[in-house]
Amino acid sequence: MSRWIQLGVSLATRSYVDAFSHLGKDMPPTWVVAVASLVFLRTSAAAQDLALEEAWKEWKGLHTKEYLEEEEAFRRAVWEKNLQRIELHNLEASLGKHSYRLAMNHLGDLTEEEINRRLNGFHPGPVHRHGENRVLFHESTSLESPKEVDWRKKGYITPVKNQGHCGACWAFSATGALEGLLFNKTGKLVSLSEQNLIDCSGKLGNHGCHGGYITRAFEYVRDNKGINSEDAYPYMEKEGFNCRYNPRERAANCTSLVAVQRGSEAALEQAVATIGPVSVAVDAHHFPFHFYKSGIFSNVFCSNVVNHAMLAVGYGTSQGDGKAYWILKNR
Ligand SMILES: *[C@@H]1O[C@H](CO)[C@@H](O)[C@H](O)[C@H]1NC(C)=O
Ligand SMILES: *[C@@H]1O[C@H](CO)[C@@H](O)[C@H](O)[C@H]1NC(C)=O
Repeated sequence: MSRWIQLGVSLATRSYVDAFSHLGKDMPPTWVVAVASLVFLRTSAAAQDLALEEAWKEWKGLHTKEYLEEEEAFRRAVWEKNLQRIELHNLEASLGKHSYRLAMNHLGDLTEEEINRRLNGFHPGPVHRHGENRVLFHESTSLESPKEVDWRKKGYITPVKNQGHCGACWAFSATGALEGLLFNKTGKLVSLSEQNLIDCSGKLGNHGCHGGYITRAFEYVRDNKGINSEDAYPYMEKEGFNCRYNPRERAANCTSLVAVQRGSEAALEQAVATIGPVSVAVDAHHFPFHFYKSGIFSNVFCSNVVNHAMLAVGYGTSQGDGKAYWILKNR
């Protein structure tokens, strides 16, 4: 799951959900992709394909998986079902039915339901929090956005991080947006601390590895008048630590937040083009998203129920079929 995702924008059902932002003048939004809720995985420890024995062993070795004896048959069956669905999808892709490919990954022994419980920790939150007026990004109708934007090429984006077994996508999305704005301001690319956000923004209603709000991560940095760097405050992949923010190690500030209009992809495009990377949220509930590998992701089952925060780092149009897409950093 740790990689760049190109997300097709030619989906009629795609819509934004919510938005956010920070540092000086920027903003980030939230939107929604969506993925299919295909046939739900119902697995029993049924017949196993003996031809897959070696592949199963190798996969377990690669991802250091160990099971209790009574659990292994079930995990193996789940893995085989996932593998079949991945192979079917890729076959269909080679027949021109999909614009992206899937691949087996470390999530292969989990059901859709389990993956969602484990990884998707974004809470969209209320549109307006009591007593707080959200500042909206103003889209200029006279301004034409460039055809393509990719902040990775401008040095704004740190390498893809891995959240591990901790549902803190909201923290990774927030640090990514702040890192980009900090780079714009200082010319230095500094990785910022997700653990700082996980440990210290609980009083704003975030739940560490069990989910949180991107907006509240920015609010924490703003109210705290700072956030530490990844080096000063390393990622532990766990929650439950005391807040250890050190003001002497402040790596960045956040002076204000700006939200992108819910539902406006044009506003998001302009925000990404004029400000930098923007935090967004997507519907990551479904199978093809969990096993995405490459290509332009799109799915007719997109909903506006978002559960996963990412970072929009650019957009473009594919050379072949002219399909518009977003470039998203997935933790
Ligand atoms: C920061 O953003 C401003 C305005 O968009 C731009 O003119 C400037 O070149 C950017 N600085 C860097 C280091 O990219
Ligand atoms: C953050 O804000 C404080 C107080 O305004 C300022 O002293 C400090 O230099 C700022 N730090 C960064 C990294 O922008």
